[in-house]
Amino acid sequence: MNEKKDFENVQNDLSTLGGVNPSRHASAQAVSGARVEKRIEKAAEASKKLAVSREKGSGDGADRPSGPVGLDVGTSHIVAAQNKHNYVYSVQDLNAFFTVPNAKFAKNILSQKEIKYYENHQQYYIIGDSAQNFANMFNVNTRRPMEDGFLSPKEDVGLKVIEAIVSSLVQEPKNFGEILCFSIPGAPFDGNGSVVYHESVVKGFLDGLGYTSIAINEGMATVLSELAEDDYTGIGISMGGGMCNVCLSYLSFPVITFSIQMSGDYIDKMVGKAVGEPASRIKAIKEEALDLSVEPTDRVSTALHIFYDEIIFKLLESLRRVMISTDKIPKISSPIPIVLSGGTAMPTGCKDKFDSKLKEINLPVAISEVRLAEDPLNTTAKGALIMAMTEAAG
Ligand SMILES: Nc1ncnc2c1ncn2[C@@H]1O[C@H](COP(=O)(O)OP(=O)(O)OP(=O)(O)O)[C@@H](O)[C@H]1O
Ligand SMILES: [Mg+2]
Repeated sequence: MNEKKDFENVQNDLSTLGGVNPSRHASAQAVSGARVEKRIEKAAEASKKLAVSREKGSGDGADRPSGPVGLDVGTSHIVAAQNKHNYVYSVQDLNAFFTVPNAKFAKNILSQKEIKYYENHQQYYIIGDSAQNFANMFNVNTRRPMEDGFLSPKEDVGLKVIEAIVSSLVQEPKNFGEILCFSIPGAPFDGNGSVVYHESVVKGFLDGLGYTSIAINEGMATVLSELAEDDYTGIGISMGGGMCNVCLSYLSFPVITFSIQMSGDYIDKMVGKAVGEPASRIKAIKEEALDLSVEPTDRVSTALHIFYDEIIFKLLESLRRVMISTDKIPKISSPIPIVLSGGTAMPTGCKDKFDSKLKEINLPVAISEVRLAEDPLNTTAKGALIMAMTEAAG
């Protein structure tokens, strides 16, 4: 790519673009053109090492990492990734909890069944996938530490629960001060939520655990994970549970980042309301059977199509509006790719639906193709790991 020489021209622009605060993101430090090349090389080297993703077996305890860590703190899932002898080793759990009153009897059962929990204020806090099992048993919903991409204002124990889930996946590092990159959302396009507060409290916990923690925008993590062959130039979109995160990256630097607070949870809620079913049932149907490449056959699939259409339209329209409202977009000579990741991008036909809506909208940059990430549920953690490995390499 011949874009590298143009980079210095956009450096000043980076500091004034909407949604980007370079001083707060490791990936947006102002650097010279030579450093850009070095950084791209290092990131490419890190991502080349990471061929296969392997997941942790059940019953394994929390790891004590001996190298850099990538951590995805998501509304639905928390995923930790490490580089183990040239493959990505990822561990994940549901970002959810369920409380039961404490009693000696319950304690014995919970311990015997290897259920993850902690005790506080005369209650047992059951966390992760186990919380879902309990909620199903009692026919209620789990409680969620995060909502719409941020720590939930409704749950004052949210951070404690996240701490407990993270600690069940990774303990303190073997070497104090090990680099850990963790995902943070972009500022909502037209919604609520403070990135600064969310980032600060999560960072406080991770630093306290003995890491040198660095925040990485979730859309940028998608780019780092998937766009090595494009010199990290393109648009990464992570379609998760609470939000969709977007990042336009130029040579590995986030030029535009933002989020919309609509994604999988929104689809479940809105479809549920439309057809009179609980959101949890819609979620199960969506994950097991949704095929967006075929015409809907019933009320639920019709509604699922409608709300997917709405989210994709909102995503593209907000991207267009953010792009045309700034004249800071670097001059990119060739068309750039869009890569989709996250659980909500997974149904068959989602990528094609996105592609066909893209053709109806007039973006100010040419798009070469729309791709689906290789491993959509682990993309953010892998991208954060690549950033951590790049930072650790100095
Ligand atoms: N096979 C599937 N088909 C459709 N949706 C799916 C599938 N698998 C997971 N999902 C949905 O993906 C969402 C979770 O995705 P993901 O784990 O990427 O989110 P997250 O990173 O935790 O959230 P966020 O990034 O918004 O904070 C949920 O809404 C879930 O229902
Ligand atoms: Mg996510």
